Amino acid sequence: MKVQYLGHSCFLLTTSKAKILIDPFLTGNPRAVTTADKVSADFILVSHAHGDHYGDAVSIARRTGATIVAPYELALHAGAQGAKVHPMGCGGGKDFSFGRVQLTIAHHSSSVEEGGKAVSVAAPAGFLIRAEGKTVYFAGDTALTMEMELLGRRNVIDLALLPIGDNFTMGPSDAAEAARMLRTRRAVPMHYNTFDLIEVDPGIFKKEAEKHGCRVDVLQPGESLEL
Ligand code: NI
Ligand code: MN
Repeated sequence: MKVQYLGHSCFLLTTSKAKILIDPFLTGNPRAVTTADKVSADFILVSHAHGDHYGDAVSIARRTGATIVAPYELALHAGAQGAKVHPMGCGGGKDFSFGRVQLTIAHHSSSVEEGGKAVSVAAPAGFLIRAEGKTVYFAGDTALTMEMELLGRRNVIDLALLPIGDNFTMGPSDAAEAARMLRTRRAVPMHYNTFDLIEVDPGIFKKEAEKHGCRVDVLQPGESLEL
């Protein structure tokens, strides 16, 4: 499968059966290299309701007819705006046309802004995505957590997409420890250097994770790797 980084936490996975877009945030992303009206998708996986993840999901779903796969209350929120949705719950897995998606625990928050107030919508999640014989773990926004040890014990993870930007999520060192706990063969950092608050050096993550035998590809927005 082709894994393309679209900046921040947005990835496009292309398999022979479907295009899977994760956490689309292009509108308002200063480092985006494409726009929401140009992206194609069959499925849109959304980890939580914050604007830098959920931002363009509904508009892309409405334009393309893609199905939004998200934690239950977030799926309802998207469905109420006219998107086709598939709700899931943490720990639950489901087979789709391209493969399997399982929702994983993320230690974070999840809210939308309504009238200047943050309104909680669903518990945040991550995703284990199995397609074409490969397993990709998308951590979402999360702290380092012992749950990752369990994920590494229960799954053979070929690629982990991990937030490293600090302040709102794991920083580079904790993310390197996450890579070790997940026993992943390969990792790509995300959720950093989009805004001042999450400026970090991805080289710190790469150096520390590679000490654990994990290959790290630091992708620039628009770049991709073949898995
Ligand atoms: Ni967030
Ligand atoms: Mn975020």
